[in-house]
Amino acid sequence: MKINMYFSNQNLFRVQAIGLLCLLQFSTGLIAQTAMINVSNRNKTSLNGQWQVILDPAGAGDWKQVWQEKKPHEKTDFVEYSFDGGPYLKVPGDFNSQLCELTYLEGTVWYKKQFENSLQPGKRLFLHFGAVNYKADVYLNGEKIGSHEGGFTPFQVEITDKAKSGSNTIVVKVNNNRIGNGLPGISYDWFNYGGITRDVDLIETNSSYIEDYLIQLKKGSLNKVLGWVQLNGAQIAQNIKVKIPELNIAFKTKSDEKGRAKIEFSSHFKLWSPESPKLYKVIVESENDEVTDSIGFRSIEVKGKEVWLNGKPIFLKAVNIHEENPHTKARAHTSEDAHILLDAAKELGCNLVRLAHYPHSENMVREAEKMGLMVWSELPVYQHIQFSDSVVPKKLELMLNEMVRRDKNRCGVIVWSLSNETYPGTPNRNEALIKMTQKCKAIDSTRLIVHVINTQAYANNTFKVWDPLYNYSDLVALNEYIGWYIPWQGKPSDVKWNVAFSDKPVFISEFGGEAKYGSNDGATDVAANWTEGYQEKIYKDQIEMFNTIPNLCGVCPWLLFDYRSLGRMNQVYQQGYNRKGVLSEHGEKKKAWHIMHEYFKNK
Ligand code: GCU
Repeated sequence: MKINMYFSNQNLFRVQAIGLLCLLQFSTGLIAQTAMINVSNRNKTSLNGQWQVILDPAGAGDWKQVWQEKKPHEKTDFVEYSFDGGPYLKVPGDFNSQLCELTYLEGTVWYKKQFENSLQPGKRLFLHFGAVNYKADVYLNGEKIGSHEGGFTPFQVEITDKAKSGSNTIVVKVNNNRIGNGLPGISYDWFNYGGITRDVDLIETNSSYIEDYLIQLKKGSLNKVLGWVQLNGAQIAQNIKVKIPELNIAFKTKSDEKGRAKIEFSSHFKLWSPESPKLYKVIVESENDEVTDSIGFRSIEVKGKEVWLNGKPIFLKAVNIHEENPHTKARAHTSEDAHILLDAAKELGCNLVRLAHYPHSENMVREAEKMGLMVWSELPVYQHIQFSDSVVPKKLELMLNEMVRRDKNRCGVIVWSLSNETYPGTPNRNEALIKMTQKCKAIDSTRLIVHVINTQAYANNTFKVWDPLYNYSDLVALNEYIGWYIPWQGKPSDVKWNVAFSDKPVFISEFGGEAKYGSNDGATDVAANWTEGYQEKIYKDQIEMFNTIPNLCGVCPWLLFDYRSLGRMNQVYQQGYNRKGVLSEHGEKKKAWHIMHEYFKNK
C-alpha cells in the first residue's frame, strides 16, 4: 500500500489511532482524549477528596438530566433530584466499599465537584482521570464534554475553552454495569468495584506542551536509547532537550511540524534489575514546557528458549495479584495499598508480579519498579469477549493504546499481556488478537508480548499444548490447575509435555487451589474441606511437575492474597472470596506459602 511508503509502523498506528478516535467521537458522541503521561510531575491541582453524589440504582438520572442541576423557580415548581442533602463519597475510591447501600451496586452513581478557575491567557486546562470503572460521562457546567469506557486506564478532557473563570461544576456519571461487548465482558472472577477509583486532577499547561515521550533502551541494546518526544499544541516545531544530569547527558534535537522529535543517544547506564533497581532523573524540555521523570534502563528479550534480562538468563519468580486492598476490602489505588501487596510479593521471594487481569494504578507500577519487581501488565481481555461485535476491535485498540502509553517508560514493565483464557472457538478471536499483537509490536517492540491460554489438553498424564495465538506470543504462557480443578492422572514427576511451540520459553502463569486459612478439620486429602493441607499438597505436586516442563522460564501461583469474587458462594469456606491465595485476606501465611517461599529461595 502506497501509504506504507511514507509511514513507519509506529506512525501508521498513530494515524490509525487518531482516525479511530475521530470515528469513535462521531459514532459514540464525545470521546475523551488519550491522556498525557507522567501526570504526577505536571502543574496540577488535585480534585481528590469528598464529592457529592446521587445514588441512581434505577438509572433515572439520564432522563431527569441530573447534570443540569435544575432549580425550582415558580412557586409551583419542584425538582425530584438534588446533590444537596445527599451523601459524599471519597475520590479516589470505589463506591461499593464506602456506603453499605452500595456494597453490591452494579449501576450508576452521579458525582459532583466544584472548582475555582482563574486560567491565564495562553494557558490550557485539562481534566484528567486516573481511572473510572466502568463507564464515565463527564459534564462541565451542565454540558457533556466527554465519555470514556474502560475501568483501568487514564483519560483526559481539555476544558480550556469550556471552563468559566470563577466557580465551575463537574458532574460525572459513573456506571459499572457489565456489558456484553465490554472489556471485560459480563463474567469474570473478581469483584466489580465501581467508581472514580483513581486520582482526578486539573492540569494546566502552556499553549503547547510535552504530551508524550518514549525514553527507553533500543531493543537488544544495553547502552543505546531510542525514543521520541511528542508535543501538543500550536507552533510545535521546537528545540527539544533530554537531560540525564547524573550521566552528563543533554541530548538536543528539534521536533518536526507535527511536534515529533526522535531521540537517540548512547551512554554507559547502570542497568535496572531486581537486585539493583536503578532509576535516573530524566528531564524533557521543549521551548515552553519541562517534565521530569524517573526512568530506568534495562533490556528484556527472549533468547532461544530463555528469557534474558540485561543479556543474562533470568527465571521469573512471579505471583498473581488483584488490585484489592485485602484489609479494607476495597479497590487498591494508593502507594500504601501498593506496598501492602508488593511487600508481600517481595517477602514470598518474587522478582515479578503479574497484575491480573487489568492495568493496575500507576502507583502500583511505579512502586514495583522502585522495589525491583518486574511487572506483567495485562488487558482485561478475559475469557468471554465478543470479538465479532463491530465495536470490540476498536475498544481493544483504544485500551491497548491507553495501557502502553501510560507505562511505556516504566522499565519495570517487561510484559504486555493482551488476553487471558479466551476461547479459540469464539468468532473472530484469533483475527482480533493477532491484529492486537501486531499493533502492540508497532507501538512498543521493547517488551515481551504475551497471550495467556488455558486450552491445553491433559490426558494420560500428558499435556498437549497448542493454540494459534502461541504463534504470536513471545512466551508459551499457560494456566493450569492440576490438583484442584483437574485431578492428577499419574505421578507429577511423570508428566509428559507435548508443546507445539517447542522453541519458546514456557511460563506457568497460573496454578494452585483453594484453602481457608486455619482450616485443618477433616481429612486433608479431601478438596471439599478447603484445608491448608490440601492446598499445600497441590503446591508440592506442582513443584514436582515443574521439573518435567521443557524450557520453563518461570512460574506464577494463583495467587498472593485471598480476594473477593461474588461467584465463590460456599458459605462455610469461601464467603464470597476466591481462596486460592497463599495468604488469607488478613495476610496470614497458609502452609502453601512456605512451600512456594522455599521453591523461590532455592531457584
Ligand atoms: C482462571 C482465571 C482467574 C481465576 C482462576 C480461578 O485461570 O484466569 O482469573 O480467578 O482461574 O478459577 O480461581
